[in-house]
Amino acid sequence: MEIIRTIKGLDAVVADAREKGLSVGLVPTMGALHAGHRSLVDRARKENDIVVVSVFVNPTQFNNAEDLRTYPHTEDADAAMLEKCGVDFVFMPTPEEVYPEPDTRVFKLGPVAEVMEGAMRPGHFNGVAQIVSKLFAIVKPTRAYFGEKDFQQIAVIRRMVEIEGFDVKIVDCPIVREDDGLALSSRNVRLSAEARAVAPNIRRLLVASLDLKKQGYSPVEVARLTEDAINNVEGLETEYYQIVDAATMQPIMEWNQAGPRGAVGCVTVYCGGVRLIDNIRY
Ligand code: PAJ
Repeated sequence: MEIIRTIKGLDAVVADAREKGLSVGLVPTMGALHAGHRSLVDRARKENDIVVVSVFVNPTQFNNAEDLRTYPHTEDADAAMLEKCGVDFVFMPTPEEVYPEPDTRVFKLGPVAEVMEGAMRPGHFNGVAQIVSKLFAIVKPTRAYFGEKDFQQIAVIRRMVEIEGFDVKIVDCPIVREDDGLALSSRNVRLSAEARAVAPNIRRLLVASLDLKKQGYSPVEVARLTEDAINNVEGLETEYYQIVDAATMQPIMEWNQAGPRGAVGCVTVYCGGVRLIDNIRY
């Protein structure tokens, strides 16, 4: 495994791979790697000749300076994990390498990026589009891997690919969870013992909401009842709970309004001051 720090260096190794006709799988990450990231890397390893993982805490997607400042950095552990997974190249650049000048590009992402995370975190998805489009332009991957944990992010990236015309297959991968149901996240290390103990209620109540659907409640009612149930747990406070079309990310009023990708309930919950996201398919 080779650690690459410069765009030039990355460009050279992937150009070489492509010349040989090899398929290239890309897994973009912000590091502090856990088993959720590993599932993406393992899948990329199975499906491609060459695997590239980027580890870069992208400043342009943080709308909260404190969140950026306190984002965990565990580069040595990350490199060790990726080596074990059989990764070929790890791209670990500095912010100056990626953004020698401020990136002023504004992507017309449209409605998929305007709701939920897009509404709560202004500029976040534009920053994601900036970094992922840069990575796609350099690596020109055959396939790129993203986790359904960040469900809306995948919809936004598909839209960015459409706008920019990249020839890449976006592969979505299921959420990896702790045994008690909490979705793995780099931010989980910030949870206090008390917060960690209540956090699994999020998943528990999402699963319970499947039953509400069966009982005949509408998407809007299921969302409201589930949001109330989460807020009734001491130590949890929702920012939003929305049931949306899994492709367009637009809220649905009736279950039959969802398109071929179905419906998904997306939630953001503050748990002991830590912002957690999760989702469930209906
Ligand atoms: P990061 O939060 O590091 O996540 C990298 C990838 O891992 C994302 O596609 C995310 O959805 C996936 N992932 C995280 N936790 C997961 C889990 N529990 N199960 C399955 N997949 C999981 O998402 C980003 O970084 C950034 O926005 C990025 C796309 C790298 C752009 O900077």
